Amino acid sequence: MCGIVAVIGSRQAAPLLLEGLKQLEYRGYDSSGLATIDTTSNQIPSRLICKRAKGKLLNLRNLVDTSGSPGRLGIGHTRWATHGRPDEKNAHPQIDSAGNIAVVQNGIIENHVLLRRSLEAEGVEFASETDTEVIPHLISKELKLLKQVGRKSSGAMLLEAVRRVSLKLNGAYAIAVIWNEAPDALVVARRKAPLLIGLGEGEFLCASDTPALAGFTRTILPMQDGEVALLTPLGIELYDQHGDRQKRSPSVLRDSEQIVNKRNFRHFMLKEIYEQPETASLWIERHLPEGLPSESPVALPFDASFYKGVEKIEILACGTSRHAAMVGAYLLEQFSGIPTSVFYASEFRYAAPPLSPHTLTIGVSQSGETADTLAALSMEAKRRDSLGDPDYASRQLGITNRPESSISRQVTNIIDIGAGIEVGVAATKTFLGQLLAFYGLAINFAAKRKSRSDEEIKKLIEEIRTVPKHLTLMLETHNELSEELSHQFSDTQDVIFLGRGINYPIALEGALKLKEVSYIHAEGYPAGEMKHGPIALLDHKVAVISIANQGIVFDKVLSNVQEAKAREARLIGVAPETIETEIFDSLMPLPVVSELISPLLSLIPMQLLSYHIAANRGLDIDQPRNLAKTVTVE
Ligand code: AGP
Repeated sequence: MCGIVAVIGSRQAAPLLLEGLKQLEYRGYDSSGLATIDTTSNQIPSRLICKRAKGKLLNLRNLVDTSGSPGRLGIGHTRWATHGRPDEKNAHPQIDSAGNIAVVQNGIIENHVLLRRSLEAEGVEFASETDTEVIPHLISKELKLLKQVGRKSSGAMLLEAVRRVSLKLNGAYAIAVIWNEAPDALVVARRKAPLLIGLGEGEFLCASDTPALAGFTRTILPMQDGEVALLTPLGIELYDQHGDRQKRSPSVLRDSEQIVNKRNFRHFMLKEIYEQPETASLWIERHLPEGLPSESPVALPFDASFYKGVEKIEILACGTSRHAAMVGAYLLEQFSGIPTSVFYASEFRYAAPPLSPHTLTIGVSQSGETADTLAALSMEAKRRDSLGDPDYASRQLGITNRPESSISRQVTNIIDIGAGIEVGVAATKTFLGQLLAFYGLAINFAAKRKSRSDEEIKKLIEEIRTVPKHLTLMLETHNELSEELSHQFSDTQDVIFLGRGINYPIALEGALKLKEVSYIHAEGYPAGEMKHGPIALLDHKVAVISIANQGIVFDKVLSNVQEAKAREARLIGVAPETIETEIFDSLMPLPVVSELISPLLSLIPMQLLSYHIAANRGLDIDQPRNLAKTVTVE
């Protein structure tokens, strides 16, 4: 999704902006741009310089290198097209008709059509198809009015103009604005889209996400919903939407929130797949220390009241996070005995089920910024509040990898999966982290509710402790195996993933991973559902990847696989290494573990196979076409 960087200070802005934008590349983009205020010629007013380029950031860098963009104040942007094609004129910054005001925006201005029409009726000519362009035109209008009164400094006028305009904008957005008549003022604002202010020495850098601040500062001030800030070389003035001054202390970033480095791996995705044994070890170290009481065997940051009286659980999430939620729902129902439903957050917003009391609402989002998930959580909070549900606030939980993100400001309880920044657009290690969070939650619920005996709980915990070792061994064998297998997929156009029970969501995740990075059409089905329709697709050109782990549905899956075999599909089994069957054309072996923990391991072949198929096709694995890491629009 779009990325914003803005800087004011004593150094040249353009190199800092380009470096910051580079760190935000992982969010996904199709064009980029920057604007600076050039004060070198002592010309009054100063000159606004704007450069934009379609495609990779390198194109913008070359443009800036050849034509220059001097100035110590600037704003930059990577654009992920929503309104208008990804070309130069629609790239940001967007500017007003006089070319004096430049704006970058991340999000969507939902009422832009109405605003545009009324501006056009006043004679304003638009140069782009973007929703963002209304903003510089509106700011220009407000500045004209403020100038007539004329008692404020140019920086204060720009701040007031942006505040007034932000009240007219509907939607979720973060913006950064500069004006050639205010060469010492950077104004930023946010509503429902992230924006952080980084405090450097004599300079400030604002960004959509923490990696852009790497090497600049560790001291940050996350802006809150509806806030507007004026940054000058002298300091920060922060205001709420009504114009009341806000005072808050900055916080300090952890190392893991900043470091974005591929080490020796070809792609971030592969690096992140390989980081999973560490993700699991760290999680075990933090949450499964020895000696915890039997009624609370997993260390989670909640007291007993959090678990008490929960009769139902609803989980809201999108994409991979939703697949983790589905495994979570299986555990919460089958292990802890609590009825649990999983919803697409985007659907829940417009078709929520009737409210029922004593319900725990869980939002799952690795980024903590997914607009659909945040909006669904907020809608549910309002619904419950309006019905006077007394314990609703304590019955909200967010599971995220970014504890400093918006979800943490929105819900009362948070499980930080602590996987470290994930750069590859395709979620891998954060999926494992989300799964582990659900195992922890299900174990504690089971212990409190006595839905499982102490022995059963102990056994599951002991098995989870073996996961890092299994993951390490699997990575060794499966990387090579997946690479070899991937060559069979050079002409493949359709792949079907099958799984049952707790591994059905892993089949869905396998299909999503393959689609995302290799652009091969893939679908995940519960294996028993094949015969009800999808089997019509099968022939020798279709590959079927079937997860068949030992457990209650093992024989059933094998029978379902036979049905595919009879239709000449190419069969790949993700099955125990000890399996005695000739049914699969290829086997991706799983260690012999209980069905209950098998999703923590069966995800490895799904991720590695997708990765290698995409690598063979020479695709842009870390930034697949059309995708964004953080989906901050509806
Ligand atoms: C995962 O590979 C995808 N990039 C995508 O489905 C993602 O899981 C989804 O957009 C939700 O993101 P979140 O976890 O940050 O909320």
